[in-house]
Amino acid sequence: MSSSSEKVLVGCIGGSGLYNLDNLTPVKTIEVDTPWGKPSSPITISTLPSGDQIAFIARHGIGHHISPSEVPARANIAALKHIGVQAIVAFSAVGSLREEIAPGDFIIPSQIIDRTKGIRQETYFRGIGVVGHTMFGDPFSTQLNEFVSPRVEKILSEIQGGPVKLHQNKTVVCMEGPAFSTRAESLMYRLWGGDIINMSVIPEAKLAKEAEIDYTLICTSTDYDAWRTGFPPVTVEEVVKTLHTNAGNSKAVAAGLLQDVHDVVAAGNVLTEAKGSMRFSTITSP
Ligand code: ADE
Repeated sequence: MSSSSEKVLVGCIGGSGLYNLDNLTPVKTIEVDTPWGKPSSPITISTLPSGDQIAFIARHGIGHHISPSEVPARANIAALKHIGVQAIVAFSAVGSLREEIAPGDFIIPSQIIDRTKGIRQETYFRGIGVVGHTMFGDPFSTQLNEFVSPRVEKILSEIQGGPVKLHQNKTVVCMEGPAFSTRAESLMYRLWGGDIINMSVIPEAKLAKEAEIDYTLICTSTDYDAWRTGFPPVTVEEVVKTLHTNAGNSKAVAAGLLQDVHDVVAAGNVLTEAKGSMRFSTITSP
């Protein structure tokens, strides 16, 4: 446990079903405006038992009124960066493309297949007269993934009503939506090596890279998408059925994890990947 500080080093982005971290102690709400507009929700600052602070944004707005294609991801990442955030722990509801990943399971992916349709604002390098190409081979922070995985696994093994299974090093397909996939698409994603599917990790992960913020995604499975023959394809009703339990488990994971993430960021010598990573990314001559 570290000493209390005023710096907000860690941000948390909640996905479908996770609209607050009301198991922590909220201290203030900040309304931020950025050059890319307003974030999805006001930023809630909460304290951990040590007194350290963390920031929370609801990706789809509080009450879920922002569709995946319309999430102001540039504003969300910029707002968190502006208040000092150096690491983001994001949560997302996902569909499963694998039999062994059951509804209710947690997944920490290490790779992404981007199936969004080019309609999202996915870079800060547009219309500014500077061309930048971000390294995206490892789309998540490998160091933050390595740090959080054993901790999340331990929390889930001891969780009330558990144990809950954690799958690691999986590939998440990010589709545009808002309609779910066809059965043929779902089968194709399996052939491509996709393990889970969502509508939100792009462009959030790309923008976090551009902002030199360590970013990890903790996913909760809600359904088996559309690939399983003999079963009806996914519906919102099915997704919502597990959202409540998954949100409760995600809050417990956040409460058990975020102090450690704060401490490792504050230590300054473990998460060394992101800082300075964009130094050689601009190709425009000065
Ligand atoms: N989010 C939750 N379930 C999903 C699915 N089957 N496809 C895309 N996004 C999802």
